[in-house]
Amino acid sequence: MAHRIAVIPGDGVGPEVIREGIKVLQAASELAGVELSFEEFPYGAEYYLRTGHLLEEEDLRELSRFDAIYLGAVGDPRVPTGLLEKGLLLTLRFYFDQYVNLRPVKLYPGVPCPLKDKGPEDIDFYVVRENTEDFYVGLGGRGKGRWREEHEMMRELYHLKLGLDLETEGEEIAYQLGVMSRRGAERVIRYAFELARREGRKKVTAVDKANVLTHLYGLWREVFQEVAKDYGEIETEFSFVDAITMWMVKNPEHYEVVVTPNMFGDIITDLGAMLQGGMGMAPGGNLNPEGLSMFEPIHGSAPKYAGKGVANPLAAILAGKMMLEELGEREASEAVEEAVKGVLREGKCLTRDLGGTSKTSEMGDAVVRKLRERYEG
Ligand code: IPM
Ligand code: MN
Repeated sequence: MAHRIAVIPGDGVGPEVIREGIKVLQAASELAGVELSFEEFPYGAEYYLRTGHLLEEEDLRELSRFDAIYLGAVGDPRVPTGLLEKGLLLTLRFYFDQYVNLRPVKLYPGVPCPLKDKGPEDIDFYVVRENTEDFYVGLGGRGKGRWREEHEMMRELYHLKLGLDLETEGEEIAYQLGVMSRRGAERVIRYAFELARREGRKKVTAVDKANVLTHLYGLWREVFQEVAKDYGEIETEFSFVDAITMWMVKNPEHYEVVVTPNMFGDIITDLGAMLQGGMGMAPGGNLNPEGLSMFEPIHGSAPKYAGKGVANPLAAILAGKMMLEELGEREASEAVEEAVKGVLREGKCLTRDLGGTSKTSEMGDAVVRKLRERYEG
């Protein structure tokens, strides 16, 4: 039975890198005897500017009939910042309850790494980022002057803690709430332990800032310790988020599986991307293990490079590899990864970010060529 993929190329370099991803996925599926069908959707900045729509309930219902979503990037300088991010990317993650954001940090041989004396054997771990809670829930507000009722609680708190009287001319506050549920923490932490078990990893590191945000990450720690009891063979540790940014640079080889709340996960995976050769090398999967998952390169739309054919499509191609794996197509998924490795090992086709001059489409072609070599000799 064919796997039906909904494709949202999106903005900026999104369409260019997704085109290469589809090229590779099509070749891999044909060679490995997997059936994939692709249907494209126009959501993104252009569509929004033309129609005034981001993603409507009926669009989401339509997408829910697919087996996976393959997303390029969202974000455009012509649209106020946050609008597309919230109206598209976060809407998709939340609507489909994609509670795991899986971001492998893996340095492939042949890829330049900015860390002196570190190589592929040192940089190979998973970041499991919680993807639906924390500071991303979108609860918050701004207040000044006379308060609306819903802000009453905050007004009281501010008055008590800071001695601020917002009815005073010129005073204003903004606040945003980080929210975590026991169930939300539990499911993603359990996923991290299961991943460790499945992949033969021996250690899970939990990230937080429980020394300051005691309520929010106090719960996180508590749940982590409870879940860990079910995985006695796996070593555990806690790391404060500030400390892990330091240790990821100094001793990346220490990490195997890192599980993190949403916001800190956002930050440390950009750092992780640099360790693996840059944003052009970093794929991610927004997973709902019981539902519809979405795969994307973790880089943004990079408007500066859009339309120039210089973006590295490997992050998108590797996101496609993750999609195949999640769809249960291990053989095809492995073939894509091996083809990517082959191209990098050879070092003849490299995009600008990797120190070469190859175009986006040449990189896609090179991966397809390696795939064909594997199957056709
Ligand atoms: C990412 C991005 C998004 C995030 C933005 C675009 C909303 O930075 O996928 O890491 O913060 O999650
Ligand atoms: Mn990010």
